[in-house]
Amino acid sequence: MRTKFFVANWKMHKTVKEASLFFQDFIPLTKGINDREIGIAPTFVCLETAEKALKNTNIKLCAQNVFYEKKGAYTGEISPIMLKDLNVEYVIIGHSERRKYFYETDEVINRKIKACIDENLNVIFCIGETIEERQSNKTFDILKRQIEKGLEGIANPEAIVLAYEPVWAIGTGIVASQAQIEQAHAFIRSQLKKFYPDKADRIRILYGGSVSPENIYSIMNTENVDGVLVGGASLDPVKFAKIVNYE
Ligand code: G3H
Repeated sequence: MRTKFFVANWKMHKTVKEASLFFQDFIPLTKGINDREIGIAPTFVCLETAEKALKNTNIKLCAQNVFYEKKGAYTGEISPIMLKDLNVEYVIIGHSERRKYFYETDEVINRKIKACIDENLNVIFCIGETIEERQSNKTFDILKRQIEKGLEGIANPEAIVLAYEPVWAIGTGIVASQAQIEQAHAFIRSQLKKFYPDKADRIRILYGGSVSPENIYSIMNTENVDGVLVGGASLDPVKFAKIVNYE
């Protein structure tokens, strides 16, 4: 009942030319896929190129960030309306790199999520604990806080996909174990049920952190995992296609 979702987060990688080359190689490798959803989040400067390349495919265009105001004197920022205008369908919000390097708080994340929902943009809402938090047994407290604050005041979760990304697994080659993923995802769903008793079962929860063609099968065969958010391995069209086509 929850369509599997495979999302590429390119982070700060690829020029426009490199993005075009990726699409040339990747799109043919996804022909005929109709039982799962694919998303690609390039940098802002590649969105227009991506939009053209993905036009006649069912690959969803995603953005890596957004600002919560509609327009105004906010140098360097991009609004939900601007993303919508480029046919972006999903926006990644709350990524740990944004929390860490750009000091995004739960409150800012909550405003961004609300701003996207107001413009009919879907959201991939990222949460996850650091290694210190895990080692001091704070994982569930952190996830609980991030969910409660991030989703505060949001009555309808239909536009939201959760992504559990343990910070210690991002870009490290250390993938969380099946048991760790299962436990975190079950906890996340239990929290979502508190907010949305009738709808929580329909919310997708993705896993992110060192996903690769080698580990995708076991990750996808974990209870409550509805897809993946892929960084490094999504930069290579063949690797990302292997992840998407896993069986
Ligand atoms: O958004 C993607 C995640 O941060 C995972 O990145 O696959 O390079 O570990 P990674």
